[in-house]
Amino acid sequence: MRFVDLFCGIGGFHQALSQLGHECVFACDIDEECRKVYHENWDMTAFNDVRTWSDEIDDHEILCAGFPCQPFSKSGNQLGFEDKIRGTLFAEISKIIRLKSPKYVLLENVANLRTHNTGNTMKTIRSVLQNLGYHVRDRVLSPHEFGIPHHRPRIFIVAINKEKVQNYSKFRFPRVSKKKAEGTHVDTIFDASSEGTISESLQMVLNHWTKFMKKLPKKIKPPSPTWSMEFGRLYDLENIHPVVNLTKRRLCEELAKEGIKVKMSWSKERILQQYPPYIRKMKTVLPKWKKQFIEKNRQFWVDHGKKIGDEWLAETRLLNETYQKFEWHVGSEKSRDVMDYMIHTRPSGIRVSRLNRIPALVAIAQIPIIGPWGRRISPREAANAQSFSSDFKPHDKSSIAFRQLGNSVNVVVIDEVVKRLMVLESIQSPEGILIPQVKHENYSE
Ligand SMILES: C[S@@+](CC[C@H](N)C(=O)[O-])C[C@H]1O[C@@H](n2cnc3c(N)ncnc32)[C@H](O)[C@@H]1O
Repeated sequence: MRFVDLFCGIGGFHQALSQLGHECVFACDIDEECRKVYHENWDMTAFNDVRTWSDEIDDHEILCAGFPCQPFSKSGNQLGFEDKIRGTLFAEISKIIRLKSPKYVLLENVANLRTHNTGNTMKTIRSVLQNLGYHVRDRVLSPHEFGIPHHRPRIFIVAINKEKVQNYSKFRFPRVSKKKAEGTHVDTIFDASSEGTISESLQMVLNHWTKFMKKLPKKIKPPSPTWSMEFGRLYDLENIHPVVNLTKRRLCEELAKEGIKVKMSWSKERILQQYPPYIRKMKTVLPKWKKQFIEKNRQFWVDHGKKIGDEWLAETRLLNETYQKFEWHVGSEKSRDVMDYMIHTRPSGIRVSRLNRIPALVAIAQIPIIGPWGRRISPREAANAQSFSSDFKPHDKSSIAFRQLGNSVNVVVIDEVVKRLMVLESIQSPEGILIPQVKHENYSE
């Protein structure tokens, strides 16, 4: 079949559909760097802004679009659906559907499209497609449910032309496997030619937390989250907030009660540095949830601090404040060495988790470190996590490659959904042959 790849990015749809034997007749993306990667990999020119081309697109049977999510006009229910979507990119999609009436429409978007604008966005999309004569189904699917070590839930909206596809109501989304989802491991996206190291300073921080975990008796879990800046601290949690409003004298007195030495000659800013960032930056009283986290961490130190030791505490005080926050999401696995797991350095601290799957790819700074590999995952491995083939060439610049791969669709998920659409073709073919290996999910909406 002929397909169009709107908002094509780097071509996740293209890879999936062309490997199933379909032919791309038009692609477009407003981003020049995406168009370059698309051209290099798929040997065809992607056009730019969809709004320039929507009247001129070639005939096709499948329309694919991973479109940007925009709020629709809420202005009054009395307006028709067409008025609600006017001026949005979804309006361009609906215009092309009206002009070309493809057999199948396959849309992809963020999972929370379902709740976007209190559910109105999804309701409008569904109604517009239904008014155009389509049977509409949607499902949230993630690559990890297909055995790929990548957690990336996305909504897939399938619309089937009721006039052109006789058995439209027989469409079922692919069956996902709990067993496959549990059995994923990052080693399956490993690329032996990828290189990289962890900086010495970050390695020191990771060793510091390994020391902490190893000193802690096996039966004891660290607080969740662990805020080591609160270990051994005693500042008042009720009466001194916001501390930024206290006089310098009062601040010095409060800190002296904890045994922290500061001088009146210091600037107020420098004295305030003795408090954790979430305290010194606070403009109101301490919220209840934060107070509970702090109390939990202080009590943990009272109960277990001796086992961990003052030397460790002195070391933690020297760390960058972000690195004093730690989350152990590993459960009761045997090893307590941070380097045996996956590590995320996030603005909210260091998160250590199992090696079963990477979280959705986002900005380069948050690309996970795979402890046993001793480095962050590479763009090639990120392409593997999105199921691009081994000859796919990501952008040369890592930061751009990660952004583009983070925006793209997972190839296997699209492949699986399209195969289910093709079952409808075989059902209605004169031979009436069903593809035997494709099982329908026992599911009704
Ligand atoms: C979520 S990404 C789609 C990624 C794509 N499905 C893939 O596999 O790589 C959305 C894309 O829409 C593009 N875009 C935004 N506005 C556009 C417009 N007016 N015309 C064409 N493309 C546009 C963005 O540049 C971005 O690459």
